[in-house]
Amino acid sequence: MSEDLARRNKEFTLASWKAQNSWNPITAVRAEGVYFYGADGEKYLDFASQLINVNLGHGNKTIIKAIQDQAEKLTYVAPSVATEPRAKLGELLREVTPHNLSKSFFTTAGTDAIENAIKIARLYSGKRKIVTRYRSYHGATQGSMTAGGDPRRLANEPGVNEIVRFHGADPLRSPLYKDRSPEEGDAIVADLLEQTINYEGPKYIAAILLEGYSGTSGIYQPGPTFWNRVQEICEKYDILLIIDEIMSGFGRTGKWFGIDHYPNVKPDIMCIAKGINSGYIPLGAVVMTDKIASYFDENVLWGGLTYSSHALACASGVATIEYMKENNIVEKGAEMGKFFRQELDKLKKKHKSVGEIRGAGLHQIIDLAQADGEPLSPYNSALTEPMQKVSKVLMDNNLITFVKWNTIYCCPPLIITEEQIMEAMTILDKALTEADKYI
Ligand SMILES: Cc1ncc(COP(=O)(O)O)c(C=O)c1O
Repeated sequence: MSEDLARRNKEFTLASWKAQNSWNPITAVRAEGVYFYGADGEKYLDFASQLINVNLGHGNKTIIKAIQDQAEKLTYVAPSVATEPRAKLGELLREVTPHNLSKSFFTTAGTDAIENAIKIARLYSGKRKIVTRYRSYHGATQGSMTAGGDPRRLANEPGVNEIVRFHGADPLRSPLYKDRSPEEGDAIVADLLEQTINYEGPKYIAAILLEGYSGTSGIYQPGPTFWNRVQEICEKYDILLIIDEIMSGFGRTGKWFGIDHYPNVKPDIMCIAKGINSGYIPLGAVVMTDKIASYFDENVLWGGLTYSSHALACASGVATIEYMKENNIVEKGAEMGKFFRQELDKLKKKHKSVGEIRGAGLHQIIDLAQADGEPLSPYNSALTEPMQKVSKVLMDNNLITFVKWNTIYCCPPLIITEEQIMEAMTILDKALTEADKYI
């Protein structure tokens, strides 16, 4: 059955980010907790929470019930109509987001949250330029794709104008960090950001847009030295700070939001999606401070989406956040993250192919490297033979995650147990044993 299902998917639909002939999909017909099951009963361990969004795992009864209850009452009305789940979700977001982020504009995903955040920053400030980081990812529509500094943008260039990029953190391999401590390197990265702003003209810059915690470009996260400077720079030059928490939000890194690791940083605008409702229904949001929101009291918010504030999506968001609060998911995820990291560090000690483990909470990555630190698969290349072998071992053992360039993403649902982590470690151990043969 799996074979036929895969064949029909290939015959009638297109897959993202690949030449179609290279798409050999596994199938899924049901899912529960950290596992999902194929059409022939294959059992897969979901080690990337799908696209790092199913934070509460699959089949959460509370979220499903909230969607069912809402569907019985009201599924959809135009975004100009007021509804209960929309009000409640806005109120909960005000409570869980940091500092004085207080009002939300709902979107259908992450990418349109970014598009709208850029639009809002430009309307509010009257300025145009957006400063972003190389090796970041902000989405796949035209503006967000250009804003990202990930190679996925390259085939779609030139994209939109007035995006400026700067070099970000990479203590392991960036020349900016050579013979320096991570803190010293971070300070240089911040200096270069400030220099870029001066070269581009601060009075033309609407916002700096950064992932609160680095995601699919390899989890290259700068420390507090960098973040404190970003806050200073934004204040000094009157530039807005847009924080993208689409991947790192909702407990992923052991805090509600990635940026919560740096309490001095005060985002003006935050973009969220994915974990906002654990991916049960498409949903995103732009959350902004009262100051920015009140600008739109008298000025038109030139933006809208048919599915903005969708009642089912908002109801699933309310259920997710309430569930997270009632069950201390963020705190428990942080604890489990410590155990997870200890086990990953043990793999690093054991396997010479592991260059580094990076991340926080249940948001970790294994970086595979040669003895001299060179990545086991070069940046933005097809997988080299050792990485293909790694990928095959994981796949043959039904551990589902992304193997990208020289890295393995380790981002399971926040509800994973120690026993399930150990199940994954056994498989990773086998995969890394294969990689070790090439070092
Ligand atoms: C940090 C970040 N921003 C934006 C996006 C885009 O979100 P979406 O795929 O929901 O449009 C993603 C998706 O992975 C992401 O990781």
